[in-house]
Amino acid sequence: MIPDVIRAAYADHVATLQAGYERALAAHGFDAVVIHSGTARKRSEFDDQYWPVRPVPHFQHWAALAEPDALLAVRPASKPTLWRIDRFDFWEHPFAPESDHFFAHFDVRGVESVGVARDALPAGRVAFVGDDHGRAALLGFDATSVNPPDLVRALDALRTRKTAYEVLCLAEANRRAARGHDAVLRAFRGGAGVELSLHLAYLEATAQDDPETPYKNIVALGANAATLHHVSYGRAPTGPTRAGAAESLLLDAGATCLGYCSDITRTWVRGRGAVADAYRGLIDAMEAAQQRLCAAVRAGDGYEALHDRSHDELGAILHDAGVVRVSGAEAVAKGITRAFYPHGLGHSLGLQCHDVGCALTKPRVDNPFLRNTSVIAAGQVFTIEPGVYFIDGLLKPLREGPDAGAVDWALVDALAPFGGVRIEDDLVVEGEGYGATRNLTREHLSVGGGAA
Ligand code: GLY
Ligand code: MN
Ligand code: MN
Repeated sequence: MIPDVIRAAYADHVATLQAGYERALAAHGFDAVVIHSGTARKRSEFDDQYWPVRPVPHFQHWAALAEPDALLAVRPASKPTLWRIDRFDFWEHPFAPESDHFFAHFDVRGVESVGVARDALPAGRVAFVGDDHGRAALLGFDATSVNPPDLVRALDALRTRKTAYEVLCLAEANRRAARGHDAVLRAFRGGAGVELSLHLAYLEATAQDDPETPYKNIVALGANAATLHHVSYGRAPTGPTRAGAAESLLLDAGATCLGYCSDITRTWVRGRGAVADAYRGLIDAMEAAQQRLCAAVRAGDGYEALHDRSHDELGAILHDAGVVRVSGAEAVAKGITRAFYPHGLGHSLGLQCHDVGCALTKPRVDNPFLRNTSVIAAGQVFTIEPGVYFIDGLLKPLREGPDAGAVDWALVDALAPFGGVRIEDDLVVEGEGYGATRNLTREHLSVGGGAA
């Protein structure tokens, strides 16, 4: 069910979008744009089975409709036209939309096939936005009118600062994902120890099918957490079988609401023992650091500076835990933290899990995987997700290099079966100054992890 407050907020959203599109079209010399929702993709070129359609984000920005071959024409000063396929098909039919609030804002027309819309498309210089170039050709667009880069950049920019409607959808996506995180934590506490079962428990609790999740759930028991995107779920217990033996779980999983995504990670440990206690201490320290980083978000500051600060936090954590024998500052200066924490602090979030608009410039060379290099601004939504991992392949050069003595390798090897820790929340920047953010995730999940 889509809450009424979301449905009611759509009118302002669509008005903002119309105004933004009109500006973008004028700035780049177009009279109109036609957005194609997408087409079902074959599982392989040699197959006759298809994946469900994932609509292109520009289409979903307007319409929460996961239908193939829908077209939306946007032009100045008129109601957008939406063409939907309307034909008898006894093999299959698309998902019914979760809500119908957007239809009244379009001139909706049913067509037998997408090609039928060709003669009714807007006149003048018209751009096609979509990912099926065959459809573009069928509709009469030449290659230069398909996804014109300047226009697409301008349309993407409209997705960077979220409307009130979008924030409501993102908040609801967090609420839905929180149910899944709660269910998986309960199962893990209860002794569940098979990744596939935990994944299925998450889908059940969030009432999502696998292809509907914003990204493939990352469900990692024990050492599997050292694979940052671990999606090859174990089918059998991966951890220790001895009753009461310690085991960790990293769950990175979200949900969608009307196309908008949540992206949440929690890390838990069960069982006792000296190493499990040390690992629990690492989770607690990461949790405190993650919260300090959330509190340090401020409009006008560079996100990359916040990412640098997350390395300072990790340096101190590794020092305090005894993992590194040098000061935290030295661990950062020598690049040691980068071997334990290779990814970026976070990324823009919206209609895509890794959304557009916040990575328009490249990060520094020592931050190669940072996906947010923006100046933080009100209206942005992004994740804050520091991590620490024991990844053999990244630690090997350190272990064999001149700074090997800076690390307590016996402790690293003892902690490695727990894989790592990541804690991830979704934040909206609401205004200026510190504290002017809303943490959409913590409204439903009060802690980032710890003892299960
Ligand atoms: N779930 C993917 C990410 O956190 O970026
Ligand atoms: Mn993320
Ligand atoms: Mn994530």
